[in-house]
Amino acid sequence: MNPVVDVHLDAAAERRLADDVRDGLTRPFKEIPPKHFYDSRGSELFERICELPEYYPTRAERSILAARAGEIVAAAGGPGELVELGSGSALKARMLLDAMDPARRYVPVDVSERMVREAAAELVADYPGLVVHGVVGDFERHLHEVPAPGGAAPRLVALLGGTIGNFPPAGRRRLLREVRAMLRPGDRFLVGTDLVKDPATIEAAYDDPGGVTAAFNRNVLHVINRELGADFDPDAFDHVAFYDREQEWVEMRLRARERCSVWVRDLDLRVEFAAGEELRTEISAKFTPARIRADCAAAGMELERTWTDAETLFGLSLARAV
Ligand code: SAH
Ligand code: TRP
Repeated sequence: MNPVVDVHLDAAAERRLADDVRDGLTRPFKEIPPKHFYDSRGSELFERICELPEYYPTRAERSILAARAGEIVAAAGGPGELVELGSGSALKARMLLDAMDPARRYVPVDVSERMVREAAAELVADYPGLVVHGVVGDFERHLHEVPAPGGAAPRLVALLGGTIGNFPPAGRRRLLREVRAMLRPGDRFLVGTDLVKDPATIEAAYDDPGGVTAAFNRNVLHVINRELGADFDPDAFDHVAFYDREQEWVEMRLRARERCSVWVRDLDLRVEFAAGEELRTEISAKFTPARIRADCAAAGMELERTWTDAETLFGLSLARAV
């Protein structure tokens, strides 16, 4: 069977990057939203991050799925369909699909067209009978484009990899409310969250000695150069990652080594950076069970169960609409 892939990113997406860059680079504290990391090169670098020894979240989440996918699927009421938001390479989806009996449909949703197309092609080849309906879009704006449930069996909506932690507190609850609106009675939401732990472990995961994470972080400047005709010198910026103990999140920033001036041609915008000035590119929140429970409750969902790995590094939580 051939996969179906709907593309909902178009000229409007470029507009969105333009708006985010214009807003983000004219603020007193500069910031770019993290979804712009993931062009083809960014997605490739992220795949490499997932294999780094320092980057424990991927290994920890996979180990939970390896041990518990059967239990999770049973607790989710025997879903026939998996919708995955920010699906990336879909390696974790496979672990859930393997436990679903039978998995009838998989709906990967991602801003990276290449990742959706590759994952869709690989999954139809490896899972005979599985319908794959990919959606290339922004899950903050295009959840209404997710195809309606394919049958009466419950649906499992998954947001893995700690991606929920990349949203600021209010944005996180807004996204959870949108997810809540997709759930019918009997459907479930599975969310992966990185857990609060000692700061040294966390900081090492976001600053590997080989510089893969630094290259990923700087990639957002390459994206802005290419898409908006800017003249950032990415190598003139240092990668900065630190754990904020108050907020319980990691911040990724790019720090201008010297004073510099950047021209963003398509926006007719000049941006000045002072020596040492930082641009925030991402937060990655770490969770306690109370925090994820409160966020779900604020969005009209009740947490039913949480599974963790043997070292309690990462959590997978199952919720339903109330
Ligand atoms: N779920 C995978 C990938 C996590 S990386 C895993 O756990 O390994 C985050 C993924 O979300 C990337 O593939 C990125 O392209 C996608 N993404 C980030 N922001 C997005 C958004 N707003 N809408 C859709 N996809 C998004
Ligand atoms: N969702 C991932 C996380 O929060 C994204 C990520 C991993 C990331 N490493 C990064 C983002 C480095 C920016 C820089 O863990």
